[in-house]
Amino acid sequence: MCGIIGYIGNRSAIPILVSGLMRLEYRGYDSAGLALSVRGSLKVHKAAGKLFRLKSILPKRSGGKIGIGHTRWATHGAPTDINAHPHLSADGKTAVVHNGIVENAAELRSLLEDEGVEFVSETDTELLAHLIARETDASLEQRVGKALALVQGTYGIAVIHCDESDRIVVARHGSPIIIGVGDREMLVASDIAALVRYTQQVVHLDDGEIATLDAKGFRTMTMDAQPIPKSPSTVSWQDDAYERGEYAHYMRKEIFEQPAAIARTLSGRIEDRFHTAHLGGLNLEASDLRDIKRVKLLGCGSAFYAGVAGAHFIESLARIPASAEPAAEFRYRNPVIERDTLHVAISQSGETLDTLMAIQEVRRSGGPVLGIVNVVGSSIAREAEGGIYMHAGPEVSVASTKAYTCSLVALVLLALHLGRMRDLSIERGSNLIEALKRLPDDIESALATEDSLRDLAQRHARCSSAFYIGRGTGFAVALEGAQKLKEISYIHAEAYPSSELKHGPLALVGPELPTFMVMPHGAMLEKSIVSLEEVKARKGPVIALTHPGDARIARRADSVIEIPHTDDLLAPVVMAIPLQLFAYHCALALGRDIDQPRNLAKSVTVE
Ligand code: F6R
Repeated sequence: MCGIIGYIGNRSAIPILVSGLMRLEYRGYDSAGLALSVRGSLKVHKAAGKLFRLKSILPKRSGGKIGIGHTRWATHGAPTDINAHPHLSADGKTAVVHNGIVENAAELRSLLEDEGVEFVSETDTELLAHLIARETDASLEQRVGKALALVQGTYGIAVIHCDESDRIVVARHGSPIIIGVGDREMLVASDIAALVRYTQQVVHLDDGEIATLDAKGFRTMTMDAQPIPKSPSTVSWQDDAYERGEYAHYMRKEIFEQPAAIARTLSGRIEDRFHTAHLGGLNLEASDLRDIKRVKLLGCGSAFYAGVAGAHFIESLARIPASAEPAAEFRYRNPVIERDTLHVAISQSGETLDTLMAIQEVRRSGGPVLGIVNVVGSSIAREAEGGIYMHAGPEVSVASTKAYTCSLVALVLLALHLGRMRDLSIERGSNLIEALKRLPDDIESALATEDSLRDLAQRHARCSSAFYIGRGTGFAVALEGAQKLKEISYIHAEAYPSSELKHGPLALVGPELPTFMVMPHGAMLEKSIVSLEEVKARKGPVIALTHPGDARIARRADSVIEIPHTDDLLAPVVMAIPLQLFAYHCALALGRDIDQPRNLAKSVTVE
């Protein structure tokens, strides 16, 4: 949620820290700050609000060649200048930036206050600076290790000290820390997005590890200073993949990247000869996969909604009972975890804390866990036994678009793979494969509906509420459509299975409430048409999202968005596109901050 950046080398640190913060701003954007070690003292600059406010107060020149920076999404304490990171110890010599939450903050705060420490901020991070400063060991890494031994909760931290200005000390427990290895310079960040402009060589810290960086290299160790040698790996995402280019918003760019992104998800994974999917990264024996009796899909937000669709795919193709559950609910309800249940974690960032904790819970009980993850080397990808990388490319807009559709495609591939190991016919397998090959083109056709969606958005952007309904996988698409609308346009939206309308929500239907009906052709079409009539009988405006060719829909709906016919199982992927475009254009018409909607952050690394 927050972002960390650090630099040590021979260049002026400010421009490098600022460019890193710009890349991290999507992670949290209510305040930002940086601390530099300059000629034996620390200089700290912080500002509430977006990064441009910090930029406007930074000195033009500074001799600092070592520094740490942070962009914040407030947890403890309001987003003010004082609560912005970095935080200093009372003597002003130690500066800390921190992602995560100190759970025993109240206890540690009163311990420090009893010792005479006066706090200046409301944050849990400030106490880390005081805890480190009260240790007396000779080296900064030892003092950091000892201080962290008192801390319960999660952290990724970076620390500098003005008397030891040849190093940055970093540590990780539950919140990512990635070291960037440069040429006679070293960087650290909580997200590779902030590093790839300077280096492609990275080292991921694991939980319980500390590292010391100097201009020439790094040393990784346990909290009690036992060395853990690590070698850098190469990141494939390049800096330009994070550029917005000609697009007004990252969200629109990412919507339009979907044909290429989906082609990458599919690339190398279709095995025509056996009419199945080739998934090299599952790391599970075929016999283990054949023995699976149930599949449980876990994720948060849009990733959970992808799981809702994924459960349909798996039941339909593999005939294995499958269900999806929000990861946070699963984690806290003392779930029954059976060894013949395959758990699949879905996550764009690979860092969502609730999803990570849920799969750690499964692993503790010995159940197999796969990850469907976008960010290579992320915590969830490393925690899972194996999985399928989405290969969607970096997703910067807070609202997920291409990662959502790529995860649907990855789930179809998994379902096909599991199905063909069981009794899915060659004919069904090869039909689906042909449809998967056409999918990038179908997505292009769905993108061509943008003008109609823009017009529709102009008409409906001032509504106070909207319904999204569908049956089967159409309901899964409706969930995601409502999510997109509310998070970026702030219009209240709810999704229901169409069948549920008459059990309550129909009371709200009337001329002021538009209903988006997801109506793919297929087994449930007739039922959907009944729901359409129910809404029309109450004078509710209906926007039908369907395939061409049904005159009844054209006659009764107020607006019809037609997308190409595709395999029934792939309709959710294609139908997601107009819903993304509708949300985008509503938000645009309302002048919202589309890429960084209020109160939200990309990658939720706290509970
Ligand atoms: C919605 C959205 C969120 C994320 C959710 C999970 O557009 O982006 O609902 O889907 O926070 O994030 P990941 O996929 O990173 O685990």
